[in-house]
Amino acid sequence: MSRVLIVGSEGQIGTQLSKALSNRDDFDYLFLCDIKDKSRTDLNYFKVDALSYDDLKSFIIDKKINEVYHLAAILSAKGEKDPMRTWNLNMNSLFNILKLAKEGIIEKAFWPSSIAVFGNNNPKNDTPQFSDKEPITSYGISKLAGENWCKYFNTNYGTDIRSIRFPGVISYDALPGGGTTDYAVDIFHSFKSKIRYTCFLDKDTILPMIYIDDAIDGIIKLMRAPKKKLRIQSSYNLYAFSMSPKMIEEELKKIDNGFQVDYVPDYRQAIADSWPNTIDDIYACEDWDWNSKYNFKETTNHMLSKLAIL
Ligand SMILES: NC(=O)c1ccc[n+]([C@@H]2O[C@H](COP(=O)([O-])OP(=O)(O)OC[C@H]3O[C@@H](n4cnc5c(N)ncnc54)[C@H](O)[C@@H]3O)[C@@H](O)[C@H]2O)c1
Repeated sequence: MSRVLIVGSEGQIGTQLSKALSNRDDFDYLFLCDIKDKSRTDLNYFKVDALSYDDLKSFIIDKKINEVYHLAAILSAKGEKDPMRTWNLNMNSLFNILKLAKEGIIEKAFWPSSIAVFGNNNPKNDTPQFSDKEPITSYGISKLAGENWCKYFNTNYGTDIRSIRFPGVISYDALPGGGTTDYAVDIFHSFKSKIRYTCFLDKDTILPMIYIDDAIDGIIKLMRAPKKKLRIQSSYNLYAFSMSPKMIEEELKKIDNGFQVDYVPDYRQAIADSWPNTIDDIYACEDWDWNSKYNFKETTNHMLSKLAIL
């Protein structure tokens, strides 16, 4: 049995992961931590700075934690406002987890990477697990370096750090924290509030996406998979479906034809253009039985129902 910690628990993914894990009975204790003063949940929450190795180490030892989900990061679009700060948080917080794993204090950890590791020179369709990676953002550079460090620690020090390259995550609970795919959540909230939406990407920009419930399912599946089955020591490609802003607009207009969307692409367009359209996730499918449950239509329906629009 494990004693589990989610670092960065108050963000878009952490909010749902903490709910999902708190409903499971295959571990002893769940602890949440974040840099924020308070948790949105009534779970076991502590304010801990993931950049402080000493604070993290004494907290983990004190609570006898052996499994960590490290989610704290600055995401792609927000990251471009302060690239050095993004590198600092994304890399040094990961190093703290890797060092604790090397010291044997953490037995197993999850750390998410992103499709932002890809750049302009890889195939756009069915982007393979092993393909050119020339990220164009500070976020993508930090994720690619992080992937390689995970592999380095796993290979050289026998650590058990597991990772997924997530596409854009669509969620209904916490709002997204500054990514290039945030429009796919924001547009539903504008629709609900009957506010005209200004999209920062061009209407035909196709990007890979995943519904939050699938994303959480993927994390849990990977973490529960037998270690010997995992061929990828860095980060697994993962795929659910692809869509454009126009596709959501059309779905929403089926409910209210008066809903209006303006397209005013900004600096995030170049980031989106550098990312894949679709992803080949064969290693995840074969190694730990990944298969997504939500396609575009099911995701849209769930978002409408969870946000009480329908
Ligand atoms: N959301 C997506 O679409 C997406 C896609 C690919 C990968 N990811 C990755 O998943 C992880 C979680 O993403 P998210 O969308 O939940 O991000 P988010 O921005 O919503 O949440 C990040 C959380 O980290 C916390 N945090 C920041 N600095 C901290 C510190 N020093 N110590 C402790 N906590 C700190 C923030 O307060 C926030 O609650 C990130 O690593 C991100 O790169 C997310």
